[in-house]
Amino acid sequence: MKRALTVVTVALAVGWAVPALAQDAAQVKHGEEVFTAQHCSMCHSVAGKGNKSGALDGIGTKLTAEEIEQWLKDPTTMKAKDPQARTLPMKSYANLPKADFDALVAYLKSLKSS
Ligand code: HEC
Repeated sequence: MKRALTVVTVALAVGWAVPALAQDAAQVKHGEEVFTAQHCSMCHSVAGKGNKSGALDGIGTKLTAEEIEQWLKDPTTMKAKDPQARTLPMKSYANLPKADFDALVAYLKSLKSS
């Protein structure tokens, strides 16, 4: 069973390799919409828009996708590791639909510092 799953995964990865770029761009755009819809800008800003004490510009360079996922799923644990964290606590976004969650991570990963 596990083996069959691996074969399917590899097949999908190969099949998606070509349109991946266009798909990435669409996913990043969707993630930006999720960011707006979830009111992340109440506490965070991107390119000067939103709450500037929580700027997320360059976050895609600072954090790995895994770290971003951890922030969105378990901000309480992540905040405990960050002594400079602000006081307003962030809630968990672990219950977002998976497509929205993944798009949000892709969007944040696209925010590279130049
Ligand atoms: C109620 C306020 C609040 C909201 C809403 C909120 N956050 Fe946060 N977030 C925080 C705080 C506080 C931290 C801790 C770090 C800090 O002090 O900036 C944080 C940290 C983060 C980090 C890690 C930042 C870093 O520099 O390491 C990411 C990424 C992040 N939030 C993304 C999001 C996203 C995406 C959303 C919307 C889905 C969101 N946050 C909504 C308050 C919030």
